[in-house]
Amino acid sequence: MSTTILGIESSCDETSAAICVNGKVVNNIIATQSIHTQFGGVVPELASRAHQKNIIPVVHEALNSSGIERKDLSAIAFTQGPGLLGALLVGSSFSKAMSMALGIPLISVNHMEAHILAHFIDEPKPAFPFLCLTVSGGHTQIVHVKSHHEFIVIGQTKDDAVGEAFDKGAKLLGLPYPGGPYIDEHAEKGDPKRFNFAESNMPDLDYSFSGIKTSLLYFLRDNSKNDPSFIEHNIDDICASYQHTLLNMLLKKLMKAATQLKISRIAIAGGVSANRGLRSELHELAKKRGWEIFIPKFEYCTDNAAMIAISGHYKYIDKRFSELNTSPEPRMTI
Ligand code: KG4
Ligand code: ZN
Repeated sequence: MSTTILGIESSCDETSAAICVNGKVVNNIIATQSIHTQFGGVVPELASRAHQKNIIPVVHEALNSSGIERKDLSAIAFTQGPGLLGALLVGSSFSKAMSMALGIPLISVNHMEAHILAHFIDEPKPAFPFLCLTVSGGHTQIVHVKSHHEFIVIGQTKDDAVGEAFDKGAKLLGLPYPGGPYIDEHAEKGDPKRFNFAESNMPDLDYSFSGIKTSLLYFLRDNSKNDPSFIEHNIDDICASYQHTLLNMLLKKLMKAATQLKISRIAIAGGVSANRGLRSELHELAKKRGWEIFIPKFEYCTDNAAMIAISGHYKYIDKRFSELNTSPEPRMTI
C-alpha cells in the first residue's frame, strides 16, 4: 500500500507545504515572509496574516508540481508546536479542515522533532541511537534520539537560544534580520582569534547564551567611543570572533555529551546548522574523534514542510494519528 503525506509548516515566518510518497520527499514549497525584515524581527500578527494569504497557493503548488491529487493523499501532517499561536492556528485549522473534507487521518508533528527527522529525508540516514544538536532561533538542545518516536533532551539552553545570540548580535552590528547568515558570511573572511568574548559556563550539558550578547554590546560600546568607525572597519574579525565563541560553547557540551553517553553518531539540525563555521568544525571533530556525522542539506536546516511530511510518514506507519480537537501548542516540548 502506498503512503502519500501532505506536510504543512506554519510555526513562525515560513509557510511551507511538501509531499512525501513512501518515505521519499517529492517537493518542498516554501513562501518566506520578507515583511519582517523591516521590523528587525518576526511580528506575530503579520506572520499570521501572511500564513493566511500563502497557505492555499503553497498547498496548491505542492500538489500541482508533484502530480499528486487530493484523492491520492493518505494523511495530512501539520506543525502543532512549538511556535507562534496565531501562525500555528492557520496551519492546524487548514489541516483539520482538509483532513475532514477528504476523510483522511490528521497527524500532529512537533517542530523540534521534525528538525531532527529531516535527517531521514535523504541518504545516509543515521542509525539509532544518535545525538542531535538542535540549534534554531528559539531552541538549543542536545537530544538523545532512540527511534523515530523517542527523543530525550539531555541538555538545553536556560535562557536565549543560540540563534537568538546570532540575531541579536547581528542587530548590534547593524546587520539585517535574521542576522545568522550575515554573521556567517562576514566570519568566513575574518580572524576568529582576534577578539575575546566571555563564554558562560553552565553545569552539566546545559547552555546559556544571554551573557555573550551583553559582552558584545559593551565591547562595541567601549571600542566605538574612540573610533566611531570601529564596527565598519572590523566587522569581519568581530563576526569571526563572536561566532567562534558561540560555536566553541556549542561544541564543548556536544563533546561532553558524546563522551558521557558513549555515542559517536552525531547530527546537527535547525536553522543554525546552516552555519558554515559549525559545519566545518563538525567535520574537524569527526576526523579527530572518529565521529560519524550527519549534516542536513541547506534547504532542510531552516523551517520547511519536507521535515513535517517525513515526520508524518513515520507517524503514519505507526498509526500515530491525532483527533480533530487537537489544538496548537505554542510551548510544546520534546
Ligand atoms: O530553524 P529556524 O529556521 O527557525 C526556528 O525554528 O527558529 O532557525 C532560524 C535561526 C535564526 O536565528 C537564523 O539567524 C539562524 O537560524 N540561521 C543561521 C544561519 N542560517 C540561519 N545562523 C547562523 N548561520 C547561518 N548560516
Ligand atoms: Zn525551526
